[in-house]
Amino acid sequence: MKKIIITIDGFSSCGKSTLARQLAQKLNYVFIDSGAMYRAVTLYFLRNHINWEKKKDVEKALSEINLSFQYNDQTGRSDIYLNDENVELLVRDMLVSENVSAVSTIREVREFAVAQQQQMGKKKGIVMDGRDIGTTVFPKAELKIFVTADPAVRVERRFKELFEKNPQITIEEVKNNLEMRDYIDSNREVSPLRQAADAIVLDNSNLTRDEQLHKALHWAKEKL
Ligand code: C5P
Repeated sequence: MKKIIITIDGFSSCGKSTLARQLAQKLNYVFIDSGAMYRAVTLYFLRNHINWEKKKDVEKALSEINLSFQYNDQTGRSDIYLNDENVELLVRDMLVSENVSAVSTIREVREFAVAQQQQMGKKKGIVMDGRDIGTTVFPKAELKIFVTADPAVRVERRFKELFEKNPQITIEEVKNNLEMRDYIDSNREVSPLRQAADAIVLDNSNLTRDEQLHKALHWAKEKL
């Protein structure tokens, strides 16, 4: 069967990764969480006290970073590795979330991530989620989905997810972080978050995971 590229973009905490992962499973495609790559770069910068205002320091740091995804037998998911260390859980940390959008505005960081993402899509048969996948990474993708959800629904979903790992977290913190990331992601100079002109909009505020998967699968099958 013909293999295609499916891009899933949208604001923070719209359920993009869940949809992308489920869709990839159903189609037997590779799933790539591009946000995990930006998060891993941010983790490296924070750990090594990189001054990301300085182009030279950023370039040097990027030359020391090797990112990969490796399958985890226990969870049945692909985890992000930073220089051979599994950082899948660490990159979800609040400190990383607070800094990742600033790091993601840096041109060199985007070029670094985008080049690897494009390489991963060379053989097609991939579902990638992020902010600029349908506009910059794979502008010719066969299926582009732009996911939206009511901001209050997104805060609630994200809060529930984070609260399980960290009961200290407050709803205010989660709300502020989502609003800040959406603002920076939408207003940055290099490939800001935009809906591609040929993307299908999926508002999942009132949809279950199964319902949104059903819709996306239907759109995918039309392209196969
Ligand atoms: O998808 P996730 O929320 O984990 O992404 C974390 C951050 O990484 C986003 O808020 C955004 O700043 C950045 N990102 C990006 N481009 C992508 C994916 C993520 O700038 N394609």
